Amino acid sequence: MNAPSNQSVSRREFVKTAGAVTTAAALGGLVVPRAVSAAAYAGGADTIKVGLVGCGGRGTGAAVQALAADPGVVLWAMGDVFKDRLDSAHALLSTPSDDMSKEAADRVKVEDRRFVGFDSYKQVIDSGVDVVLLCSYPCFRPRDLKYAIEKGKHVFAEKPVAVDAPGIRSVLDTARAAKTANLAILVGFCWRFNASMREAFKHVHDGTLGEVTSVHTTYHSGTLSKRPRQANWSELEFQMRNWWHFCWLSGDHIVEQAVHSVDRLAWAMGDRMPRSVQCLGGRAARSGEEHGDVFDHFSAIYDYDNGVRCFHSCRQIDKCPSDNRDYVFGTKGNGVIDGWSGQSPMKSRDGKVLWEGKGTSADVGKMYFDEHKELFASIRAGTPINDCERGANSVMMAIMARMAAYTGQTVSWEQALNSKLSLVPETLSWDMTLPAVKVPVPGVTPLV
Ligand SMILES: NC(=O)c1ccc[n+]([C@@H]2O[C@H](COP(=O)([O-])OP(=O)(O)OC[C@H]3O[C@@H](n4cnc5c(N)ncnc54)[C@H](O)[C@@H]3O)[C@@H](O)[C@H]2O)c1
Repeated sequence: MNAPSNQSVSRREFVKTAGAVTTAAALGGLVVPRAVSAAAYAGGADTIKVGLVGCGGRGTGAAVQALAADPGVVLWAMGDVFKDRLDSAHALLSTPSDDMSKEAADRVKVEDRRFVGFDSYKQVIDSGVDVVLLCSYPCFRPRDLKYAIEKGKHVFAEKPVAVDAPGIRSVLDTARAAKTANLAILVGFCWRFNASMREAFKHVHDGTLGEVTSVHTTYHSGTLSKRPRQANWSELEFQMRNWWHFCWLSGDHIVEQAVHSVDRLAWAMGDRMPRSVQCLGGRAARSGEEHGDVFDHFSAIYDYDNGVRCFHSCRQIDKCPSDNRDYVFGTKGNGVIDGWSGQSPMKSRDGKVLWEGKGTSADVGKMYFDEHKELFASIRAGTPINDCERGANSVMMAIMARMAAYTGQTVSWEQALNSKLSLVPETLSWDMTLPAVKVPVPGVTPLV
């Protein structure tokens, strides 16, 4: 696939970030850009050029939300590995609709800065942008994040930020480099920006339920779509078009989707990490090559140093009840935090209402806008948000549960974080040979 030429990218009008100037400082192999001045963007009227990497459903949404967050935001460049995805996202974003005002659509100024192929992330980051939205498949996030921070860009990074421990270690290094350089990294754990959730979790932390003795979070939903193989697709294209179902691309659904609920478990526990995890899991209702190698259910038991035991279960099976709530148990009572409805009753054991969240389902749509508003406001203020370490830890919690489920072993935090198992090939080409697809078997699959 040929990417359009990048020859016409104009010089930056003024230096807002210090991407071109690097110090000799190195963090985990990263070259750390010089810190961004706290005065950058302080005028409030300056244009902030945004680049989008990964132009699928979430990437398109993130671009809409970035444009809505700040009137100075201009969508400047877009990149995708597939031209059809890029073209449809560009058409959607350029056309006024219920989601996009005409004024916002007019700020889509991508012109020929539309890049296709495996290097499109570099072309977007190098196109003169100030902020990048990293929304491609999870396996590419550590690489894209590292390159963006090395080039001095602020980042919105969709969850999950990695699919394996080497990826998490890279992201943790990048998070530290971004802090040193005063660059933003906001990880797309959107529930952390949901107003009614924030209120409910504040009550948990402030002791409305007493001391937390256990937490159980759920993400029980239906299965995801399958895209049958096309005659002109290579094996790599087939797997990428069905990326949710291949562990190396997505991390499996406990890492890709249910990680939101693993993150809320961490939130309830004050972002302390567990000592170890056991996890049951398997594949009961999935068949067919499009379903790749992933499981369809997991049930994780996290043990904490203080003796607290927490649980997370997730399922992607059709015709079964859905549940996406956080059940918090404390010495004074129990709470059910329901992000979807915003209703979060907290009651004593004898049924007395201790607090009742009165959010609404509208908070769910709003949180995606709010996370971008907070991101761009922090960049303008010169105090960029960086929640990357916290986000990476939550993703690691999900990865360690997957490792425990695949192998059938109890896995400690240290074992998981230091794991050498690298799922992502160093380089990709459309005609490459991929390893045989094998569904893991607990008790047989080795812990690496
Ligand atoms: N926070 C949320 O609520 C939420 C919701 C949905 C998805 N997500 C996350 O957003 C990410 C994207 O999910 P999606 O639903 O948009 O998937 P998607 O398949 O609709 O979009 C992903 C896009 O990335 C492109 N892509 C893949 N590899 C690329 C590469 N190397 N370079 C450039 N482009 C590449 C794909 O072609 C595709 O267009 C995932 O990490 C997912 O977990 C988050």
